Amino acid sequence: MNILADELNSVLAGTIAGRLLSRLGRRIYFPKGIIAQSGEAKTKAYTANATIGMAYDQGKPLMMSAIADNLPHLSAAESVAYAPTAGVETVRHAWKEQLLQKNPSIKEEHLSLPIVVPGITAGISYTADLFLDEGQHIITSNPCWDNYSLIFHERRDGIMTEVPFFSSGPGLDMEGISAALRNAAKTGTVRIILNFPNNPSGYSPTKAEENALVALIKEIACGGADVLVICDDAYFGLFYEDDIIQESIFGRLVNLHERVLAIKLDGPTKEDYAWGFRMAFVTLGSKGIEQEHCDALIKKYMGIIRSSVSCANTPAQYLMLKTLEDPRTAGEKERYFNLLQGRYRAVKKFIAAHPKHPVLTPLPFNSGYFMSFRCEDVEAETIRRELLTRCGIGAIALGKKYLRVTFAAIAEEQIPEIYETIYRTASELQKMDEVEGRR
Ligand SMILES: Cc1ncc(COP(=O)(O)O)c(C=O)c1O
Repeated sequence: MNILADELNSVLAGTIAGRLLSRLGRRIYFPKGIIAQSGEAKTKAYTANATIGMAYDQGKPLMMSAIADNLPHLSAAESVAYAPTAGVETVRHAWKEQLLQKNPSIKEEHLSLPIVVPGITAGISYTADLFLDEGQHIITSNPCWDNYSLIFHERRDGIMTEVPFFSSGPGLDMEGISAALRNAAKTGTVRIILNFPNNPSGYSPTKAEENALVALIKEIACGGADVLVICDDAYFGLFYEDDIIQESIFGRLVNLHERVLAIKLDGPTKEDYAWGFRMAFVTLGSKGIEQEHCDALIKKYMGIIRSSVSCANTPAQYLMLKTLEDPRTAGEKERYFNLLQGRYRAVKKFIAAHPKHPVLTPLPFNSGYFMSFRCEDVEAETIRRELLTRCGIGAIALGKKYLRVTFAAIAEEQIPEIYETIYRTASELQKMDEVEGRR
């Protein structure tokens, strides 16, 4: 049992609620991870808040004009009516059309219609409900988004095999990843979640790495194991370098092999700068399934949706549709992309100019909202606290080893100063430790 769950259970011990808790009720807790640390930063990060996964400009979240303009003018049917369980039909078709445009390698033949869920988090959780039982294993990257352990481990009671995706090389540690997949294949079933652009590293595979990943998954399927690949594409599209594939790996997996089931989670949350919409899509595909199987799987998801939230948010779905149809959207998305890419380049420039730091080693990054440092000698939490309390800078500590910085939330001109402060603070903490003989 997690220590935080234990703490809550002891507060509730002896009460009627404590006696009535289910096994899940006893296991669950609210982690001291990204959301808690970012709540702390909201009040204390007076210099810059680089904690939460949102993109800001001049203190406000970015917002598409189609959303701002249409929000006050939704009809009753577009705002207060219930949406169908699997989502508004026109929205699902419009998203599918976009999906095919953004990922030309997807072959429609073995692809489901996207299902609307209340956010990518919900989509991952529902997918886990359907495909991960108590005691079953799922491979994730290490480090990974902290919510995976709450979903796969605490909620579903599955076992996460966290594979270090990065060693000291410039990209993915393909040897480590291959070994983990081959090992899991011995059980006859491999479940893996791939999240590119990755949270917290900010990494997406190069074309060569993606080829290697696809070949590995095919080899495992050909060897007789069933492979479930969940593609968490939350940050899709924010690819800042030319050597990264501009499509989701999902496209290559849909038609790969009868023994590979690919499930894509995506949505407007980050792609269309609509974090609070609470809507996303689940799309399934496999060479081993036809449309009748897709329909049966959609009904399975509908059962999960019906029995949990009943349906997703109606106004968000219609606003999304209007955004997809608005002629201004493409230009605005390009402008926002350029804004974030400018921030990314400023971070890269700083790091290139400061190649060796005694405490902080950046993990490879080339996409998305974040970059992370691997911390040596000083714990990430110690650096986070010092940055927040002494410098007013909010960052995220993930375990002892990783410090995540959301460059998407920092203005480009602030980046050199903020990174200078992060580097200086980490060095000072290390020196203090040396003087005080803690190392
Ligand atoms: C990797 C990853 N997946 C999913 C999500 C959540 O997406 P949503 O807000 O649509 O639930 C996040 C948000 O921080 C994320 O970083």
